[in-house]
Amino acid sequence: MIPVKVFDTPQDAAKSLAAEVAELIRSRAAEGKPVVLGLATGATPLPFYAELVRMHREEGLSFANVTSFNLDEYSGLPREHPESYWYFMHHNLFDHIDIKPENVNLPSGLVAPEDLDAHCAAYEQKIKDCGGIDLQILGIGRTGHIGFNEPGSDDSTITRKIQLDELTRSDAAPAFGGIENVPKTAITMGVATIMAARRVVLMAWGAKKAPIVKKAVEGPVTSEVAASYLQKHPNACFLLDKEAASELQ
Ligand code: PGA
Repeated sequence: MIPVKVFDTPQDAAKSLAAEVAELIRSRAAEGKPVVLGLATGATPLPFYAELVRMHREEGLSFANVTSFNLDEYSGLPREHPESYWYFMHHNLFDHIDIKPENVNLPSGLVAPEDLDAHCAAYEQKIKDCGGIDLQILGIGRTGHIGFNEPGSDDSTITRKIQLDELTRSDAAPAFGGIENVPKTAITMGVATIMAARRVVLMAWGAKKAPIVKKAVEGPVTSEVAASYLQKHPNACFLLDKEAASELQ
């Protein structure tokens, strides 16, 4: 059973997670050691990033010892595209904290087809070379995806190109001004990449996420719901608001 914590609001959950992350960063810094964070995009982690920025500004939390690896990136979007995950991460977090630019890692949306396999393999290798991910932050899509691990992604998958599910594309359509503008593919860490993280925290808010949260937590472990593999992770946790938790037994 995945430990589930239910909060009154996303802000309460985000504060709790930010406190955990800050404690990890500070305790490692006190030992002169680095921290490797796996980061996520989407609406879900926004209150968490806002709290980290506040802690940096008001409490002097330093990210100088942090290395980050993002889960995924849309194919075909340059870094400066407002819907690219590079843009999202810089706009919402990296531009407001003291993380070293050379310690920030995202898959590239613009890698040439002939370079794709090498790019994905290098991303996996760099995570290993940094000592592996200490704490992986996740959202969950209505398809059950973590990263962009759409239905059919099993627990042997690593960083690769993936076809986006039509539900995922339609959920992204408003931000892109129409589904015709939503990329059809992305590069994503795999389920195995995520499962290798030493700790995994998934956040979900709102009633729209309640059915897939129920499947992930209480349903069978299946490649049809990538998040269900977290049931087998030794140190995973779901942080939910009341609405996202509303269908759980
Ligand atoms: P959201 O996306 O945070 O925008 O709901 C979550 C996801 O697709 O992983």
